[in-house]
Amino acid sequence: MNRKYRKTIIAGNWKMNKTPAEGKALIEEVKGIVGKQKWCDVVVCVPFVDIPAAIRATRDAKIAVAAQNMHYEKSGAFTGEISADMLKELGVKYVIIGHSERRQYFNETDNTVNLKIKAALEAGLRPIVCVGETLEQREAGITEEHITMQVKIALRDIAPEQMRKIVFAYEPVWAIGTGKTATSEQAAEVCGLIRAVIRAKYGARCARSITIQYGGSMNAKNCAGLLSKVNVDGGLIGGASLKSDDFTVIVDAAQ
Ligand code: PGA
Repeated sequence: MNRKYRKTIIAGNWKMNKTPAEGKALIEEVKGIVGKQKWCDVVVCVPFVDIPAAIRATRDAKIAVAAQNMHYEKSGAFTGEISADMLKELGVKYVIIGHSERRQYFNETDNTVNLKIKAALEAGLRPIVCVGETLEQREAGITEEHITMQVKIALRDIAPEQMRKIVFAYEPVWAIGTGKTATSEQAAEVCGLIRAVIRAKYGARCARSITIQYGGSMNAKNCAGLLSKVNVDGGLIGGASLKSDDFTVIVDAAQ
């Protein structure tokens, strides 16, 4: 973390878990502890149908609500999809874009990620843009090329003044939900690489102001080591965000 230049953000990604009532109960459990923190922003990324209950439950706490996906068109014949304006109207602040599960199971590409980032920004949402390599890519020694390409395409036609709204999450695909965490060094190296790609395009001042999270089996035990790295500005946390005890330990570590 480097608090001088950028915010630390801890975001829980609930994925397809928790009904609205269960989600409300989880927020009630954590908000006494994580809802007053000074040094980091806390976000809960909830299923679409949980959003209204989550917004109500977080009203008196410093916890922002995020969606896990959205469509890049403003409206139209896209049965089953949700637009950025719909999310904005509910009070959503952030939206995860390009999570590896979306890329893997729902055919999202670097190109649709770019379109979604632009649509989110236009609607006034802050995108949390996920990038990461597979195990095959890491073993083939092409992590750097792959991440560079993902970041460059994600940021195509994004103006410098829009950059301060964007958050990145480095999520190695081999670490998500597997219990295998990247080492602090591996996480810091790739978060640093993402920052370098941003620096090359937008300059040092912009690059140092961008929050770059790590995600992939971050938990109560390993979070302190990961967050101690200067280039790791928080976490996108799946499994451990569903347990209030673990999530609060992670927010504490970020404090
Ligand atoms: P995990 O998920 O913490 O369960 O590995 C992280 C994510 O997919 O955002």
